[in-house]
Amino acid sequence: MKILVFGSLNIDRRYMVDHFVQPGETLSSDSVGTFSGGKGLNQAIACKKAGSDVYMAGKIGTDGAFLLAELKDADVVTKHVFIDDDELSGHAIIQVDKNGQNCIILYGGTNRTITHAEIDEVLADFDKGDIILLQNEINALDYIIDKAHEKGMVVALNPSPMDDKLLSCDLSKISYFIMNEIEAAAICGQNDPDVAIATLHEKYPESKIVITLGGDGSKYFDGEITHEHGIYSVKAVDTTAAGDTFTGYFLNGLMENMEPMEIMSMAAKASAIAVSRPGAADSIPTKDEVLATELELK
Ligand code: RIB
Repeated sequence: MKILVFGSLNIDRRYMVDHFVQPGETLSSDSVGTFSGGKGLNQAIACKKAGSDVYMAGKIGTDGAFLLAELKDADVVTKHVFIDDDELSGHAIIQVDKNGQNCIILYGGTNRTITHAEIDEVLADFDKGDIILLQNEINALDYIIDKAHEKGMVVALNPSPMDDKLLSCDLSKISYFIMNEIEAAAICGQNDPDVAIATLHEKYPESKIVITLGGDGSKYFDGEITHEHGIYSVKAVDTTAAGDTFTGYFLNGLMENMEPMEIMSMAAKASAIAVSRPGAADSIPTKDEVLATELELK
């Protein structure tokens, strides 16, 4: 069984600021850094660092060579990453404030020039029972979901960032939703996470559902029981890729058939460690580091 992450690769320009820039304001940044990012790349690296063998599919421009190098360094298989000579790689402009919170402007670039022929070429290398993990930063998501499902692949979706286009995909083909409470509410119209889980289960009875709740931890409905877990206490330096770390670790735990509470604990701890340091992909800890780190539950 293989894991394919088909998603975005972004050049992240990260600016440390006192507060997020306001309308009409010009704001100086105390420091700037360039990091590898993109929800696809981050989740592929998180899944790999958690212990899974991972294939990454997506597209970069000639300016994105270091993104490919980062994936290769992490031992992610990159033969399905295409290069577009005529478009810039996707990039993100990220403000991180003094509390470690972020806000992001995204330019899709090559993440949005993926063709149906390229998708067919990638999926030809995967079979029934293989897992595909998707987010919503690339084009043709509806086509990928339909084709992967048609092949009998297990489709996991992190519906982030949420938009109307995502809602027009056939979400009954999703086996695992891994999302935050806002995304869950957008899909099912319910703000209360327990009601959202019940509503989603009614709508998509075959799907398993993970909802992250910020400071209130996470809930996982495995088709029968809802499991709950809190978050670990750390000083937040940069929350970028915290959700991606959680998603990658969660998926790896499912693939390793770990117990639900162990999966949730590993995912929560890995994402807390990622929050405690700067960057996106660079901030994701290895499984050994997660196991060796003692943190208090909040
Ligand atoms: O989830 C964090 C990621 O969102 C960043 O790395 C940025 O590239 C945006 O895609």
